[in-house]
Amino acid sequence: MTRVLHRSIAHTYPVAATGKGIHIRDASGKEYIDASGGAAVSCLGHSHPDVLAAMHAQLDKLAYAHTSFFTTEVAEHLGEDLIAHAPPGTSHVYFVSGGSEAIEAALKAARQFFVEKGEPQRRHFIGRRQSYHGNTLGALAVGGNEWRRKQFAPLLIESHHVSPCFEYRGREPGETTRQYGERLARELEAKIEELGAKTVIAFVAETVGGATCGAITPVEGYFKRIREICDRHGILLILDEVMCGMGRTGTLHACEQEGIAPDLMAIAKGLGGGFAPIGAVLVGKKIFEAFEKGSGLFQHGHTYLGHPLACAGALAVQQVIRRDNLLANVRRQGEHLARRLGERFGNHHHVGDVRGRGLFQAIELVLDRGTKEPFDPRHKLHARIKQDAMARGLMVYPMGGTVDGQRGDHVLLAPPFIVDAAAIDTIVERLGEAIDAAIASLPSAS
Ligand SMILES: Cc1ncc(COP(=O)(O)O)c(C=O)c1O
Repeated sequence: MTRVLHRSIAHTYPVAATGKGIHIRDASGKEYIDASGGAAVSCLGHSHPDVLAAMHAQLDKLAYAHTSFFTTEVAEHLGEDLIAHAPPGTSHVYFVSGGSEAIEAALKAARQFFVEKGEPQRRHFIGRRQSYHGNTLGALAVGGNEWRRKQFAPLLIESHHVSPCFEYRGREPGETTRQYGERLARELEAKIEELGAKTVIAFVAETVGGATCGAITPVEGYFKRIREICDRHGILLILDEVMCGMGRTGTLHACEQEGIAPDLMAIAKGLGGGFAPIGAVLVGKKIFEAFEKGSGLFQHGHTYLGHPLACAGALAVQQVIRRDNLLANVRRQGEHLARRLGERFGNHHHVGDVRGRGLFQAIELVLDRGTKEPFDPRHKLHARIKQDAMARGLMVYPMGGTVDGQRGDHVLLAPPFIVDAAAIDTIVERLGEAIDAAIASLPSAS
C-alpha cells in the first residue's frame, strides 16, 4: 500500500535507491543503465561529485532567500554564466523551477511585452500540433498533443496550431526537404494572416521535438524562414529547449545549429541535470528593455524563483560540462549512437525511422515499413518496450501517439553526456532485445 499518488495507479514502481554515473540501482540491488536520463534530464548522470560538492557548500551557506527581499551570489553567477553563452540578443535570465514554469513565464513575458508597447490587442499564440510544452494550463494550451489536451480542453486558453516539422511523417513523396520546410513556413504565414498579424503574440516551437514524437529534427532552412516570417509580422519567436537544449544535441543551444536566435527561450532539464528542480527563460534584450522602460517589472513570480541550492547545482553542472569538454563527447558519442542504431534497426521490419541529433535519438516503430502504418494503439507497444527494457536493466523513454497523439510508438534515447562507446553498444543491444521481445508479445505480431 502506497500513499503516493503515482503516475500510473495500477503500476508498481521499483524503488530507486542509489545512482552513480550512468546507472541507477533499485532497492533490490538491480542496476539499470539510464539511457534516457530519466526524461532527458540527467545530463551528467547521477551523483556527480563536483556538483554534489557545490550543492553541499551552498547548503552550508544559505539554502533559501525569497527573491522579493534578496538576490544571491549564486543566482547572479549562474545568470552571468548563462548570458555569456546565450543566443545573440539575449540579455537576462528569469529563473523558475522546471520546464512548464519556464513556458508559462515565457508566454506571460511575451504578452506583457506587447502590453508595454501599447499593443494590448495581441492575444493569440500559435504552436504546433504534436508538440509538448508542459502540463500546466498555459503550456498545455500552446502544446499540440491531442491526448494530453483533450480532457482539459475547456480550461485551455485559445491557441492555434500548425503542422510540426516532422519529416518522416510530413514530407510528401517527391518533395525536397527545402520545399517541405517552405510549405510549413507558408502554413504559419497563412495562419498569422488568418488571425490578423496584429493580434498574434508569438509562435512557440520546440527546436527539436522531443517527448511526443521522438527527436524530430527540423529540416534545413525551416527555422530561418520561421524567424523571417515572425520578424516580418512583428511576432515573437519563443523556442522551447527544455528537453533538446543545454547541450543535448551537441551544441549548448539547439537553435545554434539552425542559425537563428529566439526572442524568448525556455530551458530546464539539462540546465540542472536533475540535481535540483530548475528551469529558466532566456530573455531577449528588446523584451527586457520594454519592461524596464515601461512598468519596471515583469508581473510574475513564484516562491522558489532562483532557489540558491538549485542555482548552485545548475552552475556546477554547466561548469563541469565546459571543463570536461562534454559537448565534444555528446557529438562523438551521438554519432556512435546513431551509427549503432542504424546498424541494429536500419533493416528491422518494424522500425520505420531512426532520427535525432547528438545524444538525442529516437526510433519509430511501425507495423509496416512500406506504408508506415503504426501498430494498433490498443496494444500499447511503447509500454511493453519500457517494461521489457526495465527487466533487462535499461531505462529508455518510449511513448505512444507519435503520429497524431493517438497512433504510433517511438523510443527516445537521451543518455548522459558522460556516456562512452562501450555503454552505447550495451544500450543498443539491450534495446534491440527489448523491442523484439515486446513485438513478439503482441497479440497479432505479424
Ligand atoms: C519540450 C518540453 N517543454 C516543457 C516540458 C515541461 O517540463 P517540466 O516537466 O519540467 O514541467 C517538457 C517536459 O518533458 C518538455 O519536453
